[in-house]
Amino acid sequence: MDSTEAIQELKKLISDVKPCAVTEFLGWIRSNIDDMYEEAVDKSRQNCDIMLDTIRDEIRERLPINATFPTERILTPVAGPNSDCDPTTTVHVDAFLFDDNVIDGLCDDGKMSRNYCRQCGSKEISPLTFITHSASVRQIKYMFQYLLPNLHGKAVLDVGSRTGAVLYGAYLFSDASKIVGVELDKSFCDLQKKIVEKYEFKDRIKIVHQNIMNYLQYLNRFDVIILNNVFEFFMEMKAQKQVWQSLYQNINKPGTMLITIPSVKESLQNLQTNINLSKWLKEVDMCEVCKKTNMLMYGQEDPDDKDLASIHLYEVLPRT
Ligand SMILES: C[S@@+](CC[C@H](N)C(=O)[O-])C[C@H]1O[C@@H](n2cnc3c(N)ncnc32)[C@H](O)[C@@H]1O
Repeated sequence: MDSTEAIQELKKLISDVKPCAVTEFLGWIRSNIDDMYEEAVDKSRQNCDIMLDTIRDEIRERLPINATFPTERILTPVAGPNSDCDPTTTVHVDAFLFDDNVIDGLCDDGKMSRNYCRQCGSKEISPLTFITHSASVRQIKYMFQYLLPNLHGKAVLDVGSRTGAVLYGAYLFSDASKIVGVELDKSFCDLQKKIVEKYEFKDRIKIVHQNIMNYLQYLNRFDVIILNNVFEFFMEMKAQKQVWQSLYQNINKPGTMLITIPSVKESLQNLQTNINLSKWLKEVDMCEVCKKTNMLMYGQEDPDDKDLASIHLYEVLPRT
C-alpha cells in the first residue's frame, strides 16, 4: 500500500479502537514514532548514501574542526543578514561535515559548544552564531534527487567547490556526464583532487583551481550552475559586484539552470549592480517539491530547519 492508503488505514484503525483505549494507543505511537521513523530512514539508505558518508568522515579527519585552511581569507560581511556575524561569537561549522548528530557528539565531548558565556562564570549564556561554508547532505540530495530534472548527458558546474561536497553529490546522485568544481583556494583544490582520485570519480569530475573571473568564457558550456553563497564571506563588496556583473554577462544560454543559496535577489541586494533580474532569470516555484522532500527527510512539511527552503532554482531567459 502507498502512504496515502496507509494514512487512511491508520485513521480507520484509530476509529476502531475502544474510546477508553484511544489515548493509551496514541500515547504509545507518540513515544515510539521517532525511533520508528529513524529506523525507516536507516533502511532506505543506499550505497550512494554510505559512500558520501565515508567521504565525509575522511574529509573531517583531514581538516581542523572549523574546516578552514590557513590559506583562506574569510571576511565578515559588512551588509545584509550576515553582517551581524561578530567574529568573537561566530563559529564556522561546516554543514556537510557536521550534521546535528555529529555536533551533539562533539558538544558532549567538550570539543564544540553551541553557546558562549556572556558573563564568565554565570549561567547567563547565549547561542553562538553558526556559519557554514558548505551545503549539507540533505541539501545536496534535495538538489540532485528532487529539484533538478534527469541530468543524463548534462554538464554541472559548482562555483566555489570547497570540500567538493556538491561534486560528489552530483556524481553519486545524478547521471550528469561532466561535473566541474572551480575553487579559489589551492588547499581545498588539493583536498578535492585527492578524494576524486581515491574514489575513482575522475571519469566525470574535474577540479579547476581558479578564480571564477578567469573561467567566464566557459560558463555557457554548463547546463546547471550552482552558487552556494560563494562570494559573501570571501570577497570585498566591490569585487562581489564585479563578479555578479560578469556572471550576468556570461551566463546567457537560455534554459541554463541556476541553483543558488540564498536567492539571487538577496545576494544582489546591497551591491548596486543594476542587473535586471527579471530579464535574466525566471525563478522556478519548487514549493510543493520542497514540502514533499521535507516530509521525507524531516518527517514534517515545514520543519524549523530551513535548509531546503533556502535553495532557489532559476532558468536563464532568452536575451532580447
Ligand atoms: C560557501 S563555499 C561553497 C562550497 C560548496 N559550493 C558547497 O556548496 O558545499 C564558497 C567557496 O567559494 C570559494 N570562492 C570564493 N570566491 C571565489 C571565486 N571568485 N572563484 C572561485 N571560488 C571562489 C571559496 O574559497 C569557498 O571555498
